[in-house]
Amino acid sequence: MRKPIIAGNWKMNNTIAEAEKLVKELKPLVKDAECDVVLCVPYTAIAAVAKLTKKSNIAVGAENVAWADKGAFTGEISAAMLKEVGATYAIIGHSERRQMFGETDETVNKRTIQALKYGLKPIVCVGETLEEREGGKTEEVVKRQTEGAFANVTATEMAQVVIAYEPVWAIGTGKTATDEQANETIAYIRSVLASLYGEETAQGVRIQYGGSMNPGNCKSLMAQPDIDGGLIGGASLKAADFNKVVHYNA
Ligand code: PGA
Repeated sequence: MRKPIIAGNWKMNNTIAEAEKLVKELKPLVKDAECDVVLCVPYTAIAAVAKLTKKSNIAVGAENVAWADKGAFTGEISAAMLKEVGATYAIIGHSERRQMFGETDETVNKRTIQALKYGLKPIVCVGETLEEREGGKTEEVVKRQTEGAFANVTATEMAQVVIAYEPVWAIGTGKTATDEQANETIAYIRSVLASLYGEETAQGVRIQYGGSMNPGNCKSLMAQPDIDGGLIGGASLKAADFNKVVHYNA
């Protein structure tokens, strides 16, 4: 019913030359993928990656998007600019941006609304820190982040949205949430969506797990009923590893 979606998040890695090399390796490997395949790449590599993947099953995304159409926002990149170079997705509210670059629930909401306005599919990240999990606050945190991100987003627009549940303590640490922990929190996020939009809309939204997802743990994570995909950092930087995650059932 929900088509699984595996997305790479390259973060601040790969020059254009490196990006081209990786994509050329990856393209033939994933061409028969049964899931949606997305590469979210640095702004500077989007045009090159979009060109190389044009007639393929790989979609390209950005790692952020500005909340305004245009104007005095030094350093920001608008949704129209991203579409122009071939992006169709944008990660919004990644925990690294929340922690290091002042992203808040409010700015995540503004960026999400802007992405939707321009037909970019947002991959909205939510997730608790270790301190919040140990303090029993996981549900409170993901509820606040989910309600915040989608304020004034309509049920119809939610069909375009992907959510990535990424426990901050599992990102880049090699520590994965257990399959059950990940599924439980994702099911809870879906229940928050159900209370905002109704059960039918909530059942249609794809929710990924992210945080040290790799060739070794992807199969059992993906076997969980509420986990609809993965947002893959480290393991998306090597073609062979990312391909194994894309073929998580093999
Ligand atoms: P990781 O990163 O797979 O390297 O843990 C995931 C992410 O931050 O999206």
